Amino acid sequence: MNRIGREFQQQTKYRPDNLPAGFLNYNRQPEIYKEYKQSPKIDLPPFARGDTMPLDQILSRRRSVRLFTANPLSLKDLSFLLWAADGVSRRTAGFEFRTAPSAGALYPIETYLVVNNVKDVEQGVYHYAVRTHQLEQLKCGDFRTAIARAALGQTMCASAAVVIIWTAVFYRSAWKYQQRAYRYVYLDAGHIGQNLALAATCLGLGSCQIAALFDDEVNEILQVDGQKESVLYMSVIGHPRTRTWDYPVDTSPPVR
Ligand SMILES: Cc1cc2nc3c(=O)[nH]c(=O)nc-3n(C[C@H](O)[C@H](O)[C@H](O)COP(=O)(O)O)c2cc1C
Repeated sequence: MNRIGREFQQQTKYRPDNLPAGFLNYNRQPEIYKEYKQSPKIDLPPFARGDTMPLDQILSRRRSVRLFTANPLSLKDLSFLLWAADGVSRRTAGFEFRTAPSAGALYPIETYLVVNNVKDVEQGVYHYAVRTHQLEQLKCGDFRTAIARAALGQTMCASAAVVIIWTAVFYRSAWKYQQRAYRYVYLDAGHIGQNLALAATCLGLGSCQIAALFDDEVNEILQVDGQKESVLYMSVIGHPRTRTWDYPVDTSPPVR
């Protein structure tokens, strides 16, 4: 039981006597950005920066939301969500930093979308081009059933306006961190997932993070090979049927 998990934890440990040594060959560093050059592009519109809900309110209002209305998501909200999750927040001296931290600034996580119900966007599968803040259309069509099935039948994937899917391009991180990279990609994805959840709450939207999925089925939808690049995590987004901040709040003091 749990042999592989335990083995993974042991084999990827840093110890004083096994730290990676030597110089990195920067000529062999893989590309940080994946681009689908031939795909039709959709420019994501500007969104207002500034007045938002205070952070303490966003944090206390965030809850996993699994029931959505049929209201479409606006492209402007989608634009903000993608930027907030893992967009470029600062360009400095030739480097592009993101809203989410990433081990070694190697950014191994790619973002894809199954668009179910976004205003003025055709249903289909898209890739988020981070550098240009655009959607790249990979396939058009109705993928609601396929993505819900791939998430072990979780129907929220079909009723949500959009399903955000994060993959890891492992070598982007393994190039530097070798086996330990397999810890880091999951940590990177977690940061991105939380950014998205908080951004959704800030817009009055609901999200639920999903890790219960059939990897091969999701990879098939995205047309990624499952070896060099594979799905790690997903999130559904939509207009919530009930407002999470109307849920009864436990105001009793923490148990010490
Ligand atoms: C790594 C991870 C995987 C999750 N996977 C699922 C999932 O597959 N399906 C689901 O309904 N919720 C999933 N959740 C949501 C959790 O059930 C939820 O965060 C938890 O019940 C706490 O509720 P809250 O998010 O409202 O605070 C996942 C959350 C995390 C962090």
